[in-house]
Amino acid sequence: MQRPSDFRSDTVTRPSQPMLAAMLAAELGDDVLDGDPTVGRLERAYAEWVGKPGALYLPSGTMANQIAVGAWTRPGDELIAERSAHVVQWEAGAAAALHGVQTQTLVAPDGRLDPDELAAAIRDDSIHTPRTALVCVEQTFMGDGNGPGGRVVPLAHLERVAAVARARKIPVHMDGARLPNAVAASGVSAARFASCADSVMTSLSKGLGAPVGAVLAGPEDFLARAKVLRKRFGGWMRQAGVIAAGGLYALERNLARLKDDHALARAVAETCARHSGLCAWPREVESNIVMVRVERSGWTPERLTAALGEHGVLTMPMSASSVRFVTHLDVGAADVERLARALDAIWA
Ligand SMILES: Cc1ncc(COP(=O)(O)O)c(C=O)c1O
Repeated sequence: MQRPSDFRSDTVTRPSQPMLAAMLAAELGDDVLDGDPTVGRLERAYAEWVGKPGALYLPSGTMANQIAVGAWTRPGDELIAERSAHVVQWEAGAAAALHGVQTQTLVAPDGRLDPDELAAAIRDDSIHTPRTALVCVEQTFMGDGNGPGGRVVPLAHLERVAAVARARKIPVHMDGARLPNAVAASGVSAARFASCADSVMTSLSKGLGAPVGAVLAGPEDFLARAKVLRKRFGGWMRQAGVIAAGGLYALERNLARLKDDHALARAVAETCARHSGLCAWPREVESNIVMVRVERSGWTPERLTAALGEHGVLTMPMSASSVRFVTHLDVGAADVERLARALDAIWA
């Protein structure tokens, strides 16, 4: 049977044979007792890539974001983030549930927090208000599904946001789940982007194609607090080198090819945009995420997703009006052709 063309997420990739070979060959130890050498190599490689003093290997990007939130805040504090940021929308209320932190949201559909709005949102010290303790930015910015997705927040913009936060002595955390895509799309180094943040995390299981894991980097005192939280969350793993080796392989070998995913995403958007009633913003596609708004009467994102599924093309409804396509290691030109044939058949 033909495998499906799976555009639902860049998390669906399977490790390649060479990645599996690297995992099998990994040197292992007990990371909780005296360190796992492969985990150590991955943490050092990531810290160097983002230009931070050190890093921690964690099971998921969500845990990395939440450990960062917990390490920078105390109960009763407030964090500021864009309304549809992952840390606000997709982490099951963890900032409030785990850390007693409330969230103030700003609206920036392209992920670019307005520096003046941010300055106004940061609270002055007062016994009556929560303490603003953290600003979160997302790179690339997935978006809420109502406009183009996967936007690269320009370096100059991040620098303005960081300047506002730093002037008020507030740390910035970068959810860089897809920072590698931003680097590939812009040519700006990871370290330059990350210089606009005090802590940064990247998922290894998205565009980089590793099966599991995320890395969180920052200064030593932050990492000391983060280690306590990792212990409390039960996120410290033993012979984790067996999976960290996949992440290390991905960081060393799979960065350059992300440009191919971005070109394929543009092809997806162009294919959809050729069908009237589908709005896909092909010229605005900057990375590997394509949002497609369904504007044809009688059609919904769920109906389009179901119809494409019957042709072996998997996508994900993203909002009341949009379907999301994500490109990655395990889709190629043949999958876009299949999408074109499916759309021709169901959209006639
Ligand atoms: C922007 C962003 N941040 C964080 C995460 C969380 O990563 P994980 O799925 O590894 O928990 C995701 C996952 O989709 C994401 O898209």
